[in-house]
Amino acid sequence: MARTHVVLLGPPGAGKGTQAKQIVDKYGLTHLSTGDILRDEVARATDLGKTAKEFMNRGDLVPDQLIIDMIRGRIEAADAGFLLDGFPRTTAQAEALGRFATIDVVLNIGLARDEVVRRLTSRRVCKGCGEIYNLTFNLAEGETTCAKCGGELYQRDDDKTDVIANRYDIYERSTAPLIDYYKRQGVLRTLDGLAGSEKVFSEIIDILTA
Ligand code: AP5
Repeated sequence: MARTHVVLLGPPGAGKGTQAKQIVDKYGLTHLSTGDILRDEVARATDLGKTAKEFMNRGDLVPDQLIIDMIRGRIEAADAGFLLDGFPRTTAQAEALGRFATIDVVLNIGLARDEVVRRLTSRRVCKGCGEIYNLTFNLAEGETTCAKCGGELYQRDDDKTDVIANRYDIYERSTAPLIDYYKRQGVLRTLDGLAGSEKVFSEIIDILTA
């Protein structure tokens, strides 16, 4: 594959995690999701997790320096390439990233606010393997078990309507400016997140192998 330093950009619920799992399965990149790493820190009640939990439950961003310190070593250790999911999310994070890694391509998955709310209120996630489901197309109402690993399905604490609204506001204010930031660097590719997940994935394959 030609491109091995990859960033997934997009609002909450655009499908970054869904696409990330398929991309790393196919290409063997290291999947670095700052949201997943933070949720693990919260579950283990580490110092970072205790600090991050308050920001995450409100839908606010965790302070830049904590995130940069958390992710930098993981990126530098990813010898076979990396897929960044949820990082960078602010201009300060993007500038820091640019100081310790090169980026081959930024996959920007766009999705409007109303669809984000619809998707996130109906999302369920497996506690065991992290598989992502949605009540609108691949999970029956009342089903609580993961079809892949048998783990327990749960609803994320930040997938409540008021928190989702705050997350989207913050995306527009702090993260959307990165679209122009990476466009200026000539590495941005934009995908329509409203398309089915197979179609989005096949477009990503075309971009990554071009
Ligand atoms: P994080 O975990 O990164 O959340 P997010 O960016 O808000 O993204 P989501 O995981 O909610 O959505 P997604 O785009 O992965 O969508 P998914 O594939 O699940 O961050 C959480 C929090 O951590 C932040 O709010 C912040 O507090 C903190 N944080 C993390 N990174 C940080 C950073 N860098 N700096 C500061 N703070 C940070 O899909 C959503 C649903 O839609 C699923 O149900 C799925 O099945 C469905 N779906 C997916 N694709 C499609 C499709 N094409 N069509 C129909 N349905 C689809």
